[in-house]
Amino acid sequence: MRQSEIRVAFLPELAGDVSNCVCIVIDALRATTVITTLFERGCPCVYVAPSHPLAESFARANGYVLCGETNGVKAEGFDYGNSPTEFSRLDFTERPVVLSTSNGTKATAAVANAKRTYLGSALNRTAVAQAAWEAANAEEADVVIVCSGTNGTFTLEDATVAGLYVEALVAMGTAWTMPSLSDSAVAARRLWQSEPNLLRGWMEGRHAQHLGDIGFGEDIGFSATIDNSGTVPTLVTEETKTSVDCPTILVA
Ligand code: MLT
Repeated sequence: MRQSEIRVAFLPELAGDVSNCVCIVIDALRATTVITTLFERGCPCVYVAPSHPLAESFARANGYVLCGETNGVKAEGFDYGNSPTEFSRLDFTERPVVLSTSNGTKATAAVANAKRTYLGSALNRTAVAQAAWEAANAEEADVVIVCSGTNGTFTLEDATVAGLYVEALVAMGTAWTMPSLSDSAVAARRLWQSEPNLLRGWMEGRHAQHLGDIGFGEDIGFSATIDNSGTVPTLVTEETKTSVDCPTILVA
């Protein structure tokens, strides 16, 4: 059996050619946590849009719920923002969502050509790592953990959650299937090991501090909860049936 390599791309543009890889996209604060939460709240699917105008026209044309943020706050004219705690109190049964965010949805679109793409957060860490590990073994593929970053810069919370995923993936290996780690995977794991308390580590970072400053402190603690969801958001690309092009669909 081929030995899979685990790599971490600290920014989407560092992911390289992922067409033969299994990807896990991470935007811990907050897009992938939001997507996990939407599925927990009964949402049948989340359309992940790479821009606000595309999201808006697609959602309005289809009567879907339009969600997303600009600089952390609800985008103008949208139905909801990007707050997982707000979504955790709402019912999304039979309500498809179109989501557009500053980094997470763009990172997802950037690796849509991978063999499989999963969306991971701290909430669903073990469930997503397990699915990715099984897919990598079945496909004899490497696993690339893709950090969304913040506007093209390294983000502490994505890198520490990437380290958490590396830890889980290594724990899933056996003597016959032990993965090898790229230097970036070793670095992410060591970063997480240096402060295993996600919340404490994240509060040293700019994005968590920004979210706290604009009134979303509750979202940070919520997003730092590990393994309270078995949801595995999986990217499915499909031809849309409308004239508006919205290239990616997530199903739980
Ligand atoms: C993003 O996609 O950059 C984030 O989810 C922003 C946020 O915290 O809402």
